[in-house]
Formats: sequence, C-alpha cells, structure tokens
Amino acid sequence: MKRKKNIILIGFMGVGKTTVSKYLNKQYGLEFIDMDAEIEKREGRRISEIFHTEGEEYFRNLETDLLREIQSRDDMVISCGGGTVLRECNVLEMKKNGLVVLLDASPETIYERVKHSCHRPLLEKHKSVETIRMLLKQRRNLYEKAADVIITIDGKDIKEVGREILEKRRECGDV
Ligand code: S3P
Repeated sequence: MKRKKNIILIGFMGVGKTTVSKYLNKQYGLEFIDMDAEIEKREGRRISEIFHTEGEEYFRNLETDLLREIQSRDDMVISCGGGTVLRECNVLEMKKNGLVVLLDASPETIYERVKHSCHRPLLEKHKSVETIRMLLKQRRNLYEKAADVIITIDGKDIKEVGREILEKRRECGDV
C-alpha cells in the first residue's frame, strides 16, 4: 500500500501551527504531534526553561532528534517549532516523508497573536511588530525554500486554512 505522507506545518511563531494541527485532528481525525509540546513533555519543563538553563543549541538538538524519530510514521500532522527550518538537516528530514506546508502571516497578524504569550524565549524581551518583521525577514528565505506549499493565513478562519491544506495535499497527490 502507498505510504501517506505526513503534513508538516512550518512557519513563524504565532501563525497557528498548533491550532491548525489540533483542528485537523478534531475535524478530520488526523493524528497529530506538536513538537514543542512533545519536547516539553519529555523534558518535563517549558521550552523557555530549556532555553534558559541549557541554551538554544541543546533545544535545537532535541528538535532534530524528535523530527528524525517521527518521520518514520505516516499520515500524521506534525506541527514544528518556528525555528525547526534553521537547520538544513531538519528540512531534509521533513522532505523524506512529508508535505511541507508553510503557514505565512504578516508581522502585524503575528504580533496580535503573540502579544500576550509569555512562553516564547526569542520574543520575550522584544515583543513588537518591528522585531517580528526583522526576524521574519531573516528567516523568510529558509521558510520559502523548505515549503512545498505556502498558505497565507491573514484574515482567514481555521476552517478555511484546514480546507486549503487538505486541498493542496490532494493536488500534490499525497492521498
Ligand atoms: C521558536 C519557536 C517556538 C519554540 C521555540 C523557538 C523559534 O515554537 O520552538 O521557542 O525559533 O521560532 P512556536 O513556533 O510554536 O512558537
């Protein structure tokens, strides 16, 4: 039987990767894994604490190890942390058995979504539209290069985003 690829959600912090993966699970019964939540569960502490006590590199190694482990599974939705694309080896891993879907949004939309959150170490001290714009600019190339499909989420509700993802998946012949 043909393997069903995983749907891999990438994109900047706050674009809704976790929310969309939960929606695809609830609405369409797709199994999902949220990488940040899984890392927190395994480590028994929040991402911010891991960053503070062990440093970013330690966290990035956990991300790479987890991604390698879950790519052996099929037909799942995998919600990646916003920085997973920073390592080329992670992107190669995603491509092995996944349709990589970039959720894209404007810095303004992202700011609205993250302004009250306090568990994102990279935005902790400088939460502003300008910081987000700058970080997004640094990463845009990596996001776009990794993506098989790009979905802009500005002004869309979750149902539309979920439907678009599944449509693209069909168009790409993954189901
Ligand atoms: C990060 C994004 C976060 C989390 C960590 C680092 C990043 O995930 O993995 O704080 O480098 O963009 P979300 O995108 O789910 O917020």
